[in-house]
Amino acid sequence: MSTIKVGVIGLGSISEMHIQGYLKNPDAELIAVTDMNEERAKKKAETLGIKHYYTDYKAMLANKEIDAVSICTWNNTHAEIAIAALEAGKHVLIEKPLCKTVEEAVAIETCAKKYPNQLLQIGYVRRFGTNTQVLKRFIDNGELGEIYYSKASCLRVLGNPGGWFADQERSGGGPLIDIGVHVIDLCWYLMGKPKVKSVSGNTYNKLGNRSNIEYKSFYKAADYDADKNTVEDLANAIIRFENGASLFVDVSFALHAKKEEVRVSLHGDKGGAEIEPALEIYTEKNNIMLSSTPQIDHTTFDFESGFQNEVDHFIACAKGKEETIAPVEDGVEMMKILTGVYESSKQQAEIHFD
Ligand SMILES: NC(=O)c1ccc[n+]([C@@H]2O[C@H](COP(=O)([O-])OP(=O)(O)OC[C@H]3O[C@@H](n4cnc5c(N)ncnc54)[C@H](O)[C@@H]3O)[C@@H](O)[C@H]2O)c1
Repeated sequence: MSTIKVGVIGLGSISEMHIQGYLKNPDAELIAVTDMNEERAKKKAETLGIKHYYTDYKAMLANKEIDAVSICTWNNTHAEIAIAALEAGKHVLIEKPLCKTVEEAVAIETCAKKYPNQLLQIGYVRRFGTNTQVLKRFIDNGELGEIYYSKASCLRVLGNPGGWFADQERSGGGPLIDIGVHVIDLCWYLMGKPKVKSVSGNTYNKLGNRSNIEYKSFYKAADYDADKNTVEDLANAIIRFENGASLFVDVSFALHAKKEEVRVSLHGDKGGAEIEPALEIYTEKNNIMLSSTPQIDHTTFDFESGFQNEVDHFIACAKGKEETIAPVEDGVEMMKILTGVYESSKQQAEIHFD
């Protein structure tokens, strides 16, 4: 069977993880790149010896040689590009968040359903971490029992990436939609994807982007610019599910606190687990509380292998060998949760879903 010919759209910071993933996958061939910044596209194509480069994604999608695309652009362009790519006959790997609104998510889902022979996979990369996959095996074998509570924190003290990330119009929001989506999805996926019932959240914009801070580096957009900041710097929420389970989350780009913290845990009636900062499983035996640490290569999320697993899975799915573990419908439920938190904060009330 021939290789899957791939094009990458958007050549900023995260695209490199997709590009490296395709370059290392023997069933994939990276033949095109696109960025509206021509110099960036030209340089990437020349450095890596990629056959075609474009500044307009529509021109790339018209290239019949291309079977699949990665979308690594600003969040406000995700829906438009994903729909155009599906209509052009391509398989799609789309970065998180799926898009900015529930309406856009439903439009992408409707389009994806029109093309059942094409794949749309969401870049929920945390699902592909080995710590996640190992914990999922324990959960699937019933070792945690019924998971009724989970807790996700992703707190940056200084980490507003600036540029489009900090522009509500282009990003759809701040830390909630950018990093909250990862940890909420991680819990939701491991809880068995229960249907969301209601959301109660708060967002704050108290510290701004802290661009006054010196001698401390952090993740920045390719076109970093600290001048504009219209997104929240902290969000928290309690999310209730129809099966009675709940998820508590807090995330920030800026916070007066000692240091950055990522902490994610799940709690069931037979056992519990901490997945970040490192995988550990808790239970009891013979009236003794036990903690176990799986002996695996990465007990914490490893960026490189996580992205490689994500890309390998995408290519295997595109070849019909596997079925995606991050399908479009999961993006619709997630957009309900994320936009629900913003709406709840705005209304200062709990938001209920039917
Ligand atoms: N999975 C992860 O861990 C992870 C991490 C960071 C970012 N992301 C996601 O990846 C996407 C990109 O983030 P980034 O950090 O690489 O941003 P970035 O600003 O570094 O890069 C975005 C690139 O897209 C280009 N672009 C934007 N709109 C375009 C369009 N319509 N056509 C062509 N090019 C366009 C920009 O010129 C820029 O080069 C976002 O959706 C973000 O949420 C995911």
